[in-house]
Amino acid sequence: MPHFASPRDIKVGVVGYGGAFNMGRKHLLEMKRAGMTPFAVCEVDAERLAVAEDDFPGIETYGSLDAMLKRSDVNLLVHITPHNLHFPLAMKCVRAGKHVVTEKPFVVTTSEADRLIAAAEKQGVMVSTYHNRHWDGWVLRAKREIDKGVIGDVFRVEANMGGYRAPKDWWRTSESISGGVLYDWGVHLLEYALQVIDDEAVEVSGFAHRGHWEANVPKSFPWRGDMNEDEATAVIRFAKGSLLRLRISQLNALPDPHLVAFHGTKGCYVIRWDGWTTRTAGAAFRKTGKLTEKTGQHPKDQSHRYYQNVADYLCGKADLVITPQWARRPIHLIDLAKRSAAQNKSLKVKYG
Ligand SMILES: NC(=O)c1ccc[n+]([C@@H]2O[C@H](COP(=O)([O-])OP(=O)(O)OC[C@H]3O[C@@H](n4cnc5c(N)ncnc54)[C@H](O)[C@@H]3O)[C@@H](O)[C@H]2O)c1
Repeated sequence: MPHFASPRDIKVGVVGYGGAFNMGRKHLLEMKRAGMTPFAVCEVDAERLAVAEDDFPGIETYGSLDAMLKRSDVNLLVHITPHNLHFPLAMKCVRAGKHVVTEKPFVVTTSEADRLIAAAEKQGVMVSTYHNRHWDGWVLRAKREIDKGVIGDVFRVEANMGGYRAPKDWWRTSESISGGVLYDWGVHLLEYALQVIDDEAVEVSGFAHRGHWEANVPKSFPWRGDMNEDEATAVIRFAKGSLLRLRISQLNALPDPHLVAFHGTKGCYVIRWDGWTTRTAGAAFRKTGKLTEKTGQHPKDQSHRYYQNVADYLCGKADLVITPQWARRPIHLIDLAKRSAAQNKSLKVKYG
């Protein structure tokens, strides 16, 4: 792996400078904060390319990845495109000898992950995924407390998101583009759980409900005929018997009060949008039979640490935290959940 003398020597380019969440700008600013040099933007939408020029005066701009790869000296390319493009565009960059970061999800299928990892190893370049939420304050604190033994041994994790609402008119609604309803927030929630559950996943059962929104959107709805599941659930069994249930729903009329709940032998640790709660069997439990409830605010997010680690890694000063093998784990589990739902049977895990 070629190492850079200084982060400043890492010339970074982003592929995709979309307007939904202005993620291209966020990435370039975080890479700059980590000492790297914002160098180029590739975007097929000319209006968004003009926004990038305004945000970063003097930055190189390209209307196609081929042109960028042909003409730019950029060393590290970050893919911030719709999900189905992560694999083909990242593969092109790896084959051109560039270091690569993809936004989450890493790619869409296990096979794509395997092929990208093999190509990166062959080329001697880095491949990683922007798991910024690895450093979310709420999961850092949850992991710290759970590792201290506050809730005992974790045996069940429940992760949920969604509500009862019609899908929006954007590419995330298209199954062939997004991969399915589990591939957006589901990847973050799985990555949280995998940080905390110190065990190997061995089996996945997937469940999906389809067709309700497909039948109830207007005929003119652009994604009709190619819509995500209304709801999908992955139930994951771990080697020592613990259970993880992930559910993303657009048909959930009883919204869940929490994002993630970790259940252990001494109580539970709950992550809600607005804070954390623990309910534990403390000293008083034997006498009163009552659990002790504590609540608090989440600590601040530290997502800037993602690019700090990438810069340190490329300068030979640290191990890579979000390796492609780590990024493959949630993708593999979601891929299996989809296939399991389609086949109506549980499937064995290869990369647990
Ligand atoms: N980590 C996070 O917190 C987080 C937050 C939001 C989005 N995301 C991820 O970021 C990615 C992009 O999502 P978004 O919300 O920014 O979408 P978006 O639609 O706003 O942006 C995607 C951009 O990619 C461009 N694009 C499409 N094909 C291209 C090509 N061949 N070459 C160059 N540009 C191309 C589009 O024109 C568009 O501007 C997704 O993977 C999404 O899951 C992650």
